[in-house]
Amino acid sequence: MLSYTERGRGPALVFIHAFPLDSSMWRAQAEHFSTRHRVITPDILGFGGSQPPRPWTMAQMGDESLLLLDHLRIDKCTLAGLSMGGYISLPLALGHPDRIERLVLAHTRARADLEPERAARNAMIEELRKDGVAGLPDKMLPRLLGTAASDEVKGTVRDAILRTAAEADIHAVTAMRDRNDQTARLGGVKSATLVIAGSGDAIMKVEDSQAMAEAIPRARLVVIPNTGHLSNLEDPPAFNRELEDFLRQSDSK
Ligand code: MLT
Repeated sequence: MLSYTERGRGPALVFIHAFPLDSSMWRAQAEHFSTRHRVITPDILGFGGSQPPRPWTMAQMGDESLLLLDHLRIDKCTLAGLSMGGYISLPLALGHPDRIERLVLAHTRARADLEPERAARNAMIEELRKDGVAGLPDKMLPRLLGTAASDEVKGTVRDAILRTAAEADIHAVTAMRDRNDQTARLGGVKSATLVIAGSGDAIMKVEDSQAMAEAIPRARLVVIPNTGHLSNLEDPPAFNRELEDFLRQSDSK
């Protein structure tokens, strides 16, 4: 069973974290939404409390997430995945529209890795094998955070990256490298969907998020200004406001 934190009561809201972080990246969302929701934040296998690291695939992590919903007796939920969390959440919502009423795809994409991206994953695996996680923050921070990110946010993300085990990172990079392309399936997403992009995201282009939102029948795109790849951490009030609007609007339909 995946480790998780749970806070609040009400309709279930499940947040799946990005790489190479853990469930603590959702602290500001757990605080904000737990006044009216039951907020669940799992740790993906090998991260946070979900130990020990083992190899996994996106489909297996989807199954693990469903097991967690069963364990918590959650019939239906809003599922929000950011980046790697979105790689897990999208196929899960496609396979289980009865469980995933609403879907949030933040800073993520439907397509598989392209060849140069696969090569970069392999290089990262080699570096992690050789040098561990010590070099990862300097490599990843400029890609994860926009130019307006505060020193505090930079410190939080750096510390979270350094808490990860190289072995867990290697399994996650492998799972991301080998994930399936979901683009052709986007028309089959039944859940009301919010696609979130950051205007300064160096990893996911706004145009790609827009194309994904256009291909999903009940989707809407919002672009959060002045943020990079981790808008929920870089500008929690803006992220929370957009998510709250979405929850309110999809409730009234
Ligand atoms: C993430 O933020 O989860 C990852 O950086 C996404 C990726 O590397 O594709």
